[in-house]
Amino acid sequence: MTLVLGIESSCDETAVALVTDDRRILAERIASQEAEHRPFGGVVPELAARAHAERLAPMLEAVLAEAGVTLADVDAIAATAGPGLIGGVMVGLVTGKALAFASGKPLHGINHLEGHALSPRLVDPGLGFPYLLLLVSGGHCQLIAVEGVGRYRRLATTIDDAAGEAFDKVAKMLGLGFPGGPAVERAAMAGNPKAVPLPRPLIGSGEPHFSFAGLKTAVLRATETGRHETADIAASFQQAVCDCLEDRARRAIRAMPEASALVVAGGVAANSAIRTTLERLAAAHGLPFIAPPLRLCTDNAAMIAWAAQERIAAGLTPDADPQARPRWPLDPAAEPVRGAGVKA
Ligand code: KG4
Ligand code: ZN
Repeated sequence: MTLVLGIESSCDETAVALVTDDRRILAERIASQEAEHRPFGGVVPELAARAHAERLAPMLEAVLAEAGVTLADVDAIAATAGPGLIGGVMVGLVTGKALAFASGKPLHGINHLEGHALSPRLVDPGLGFPYLLLLVSGGHCQLIAVEGVGRYRRLATTIDDAAGEAFDKVAKMLGLGFPGGPAVERAAMAGNPKAVPLPRPLIGSGEPHFSFAGLKTAVLRATETGRHETADIAASFQQAVCDCLEDRARRAIRAMPEASALVVAGGVAANSAIRTTLERLAAAHGLPFIAPPLRLCTDNAAMIAWAAQERIAAGLTPDADPQARPRWPLDPAAEPVRGAGVKA
């Protein structure tokens, strides 16, 4: 058995997990920093880094104790090395380096996006390459052809905001609080998705990318008229996001006929309207639809440990001295576009 200790600290979740190569999560902890950031209506990088630094050591102890193992039983350490808020990434990566140095075990600096991209295989051993991944979170909105471990082709990204970022900003405009996604979804339940006419940026466009900035501005204008119920605005906004994701994903499915499945990951995948939309789209193309359980969709350390397991199994050797990177595209050949969808 190979045992990997994973650490995640790239945004506002501090997380630690122990994962085996036969897909067992022996122990895991995820500490959200919602309470720290709520007064500011968004993630404050400096506060996030401090919170990671305070929490990591006790969480590491707790996870090792719960699994009944010590560092000596661990085969490798995995820590997120980017992309993300640089202060937090450094806290996790340096902690990983210290543990690796003290225990003499190898350290894998993991790309957070690779963690999301491979997480569905942690729960679904039958999911084979290649598959089409829609990664929708607070920091990212990308369509990725996952062709193998370490082999990712970015088909599309956002030219401005990420989908989750749009949810968070709309929640702020509507006075629904932080984090915005779940609040908008709750409000939308009581609203009419056809009540407020809103744009669907880039739908039907020849280019593959996403855009949410224009939609966000249109929501602001609709709010300012004072003519619409909050629930109707929330429902209409959510419907517009569903339509955009569906249109862009459909284009990617056509561009990737070899895909074995449509997979969704990232915090926005928690949204049931979005899940239902994607499920229907996959079915219409005869593709299985795979959405990992929510605690694996949002940021967590099990996916970071699992990405290291996949890299070990694929025979990839880790960088000798990985550096913390605020930006780290999964597909180095992808053309940079405006925004690039990294929360900062
Ligand atoms: O993956 P994640 O936990 O962290 C990042 O890497 O960003 O995603 C968090 C994002 C936030 O923008 C949050 O508002 C959004 O996911 N989110 C949702 C829902 N739950 C979380 N968006 C829409 N509907 C939801 N139910
Ligand atoms: Zn993430």
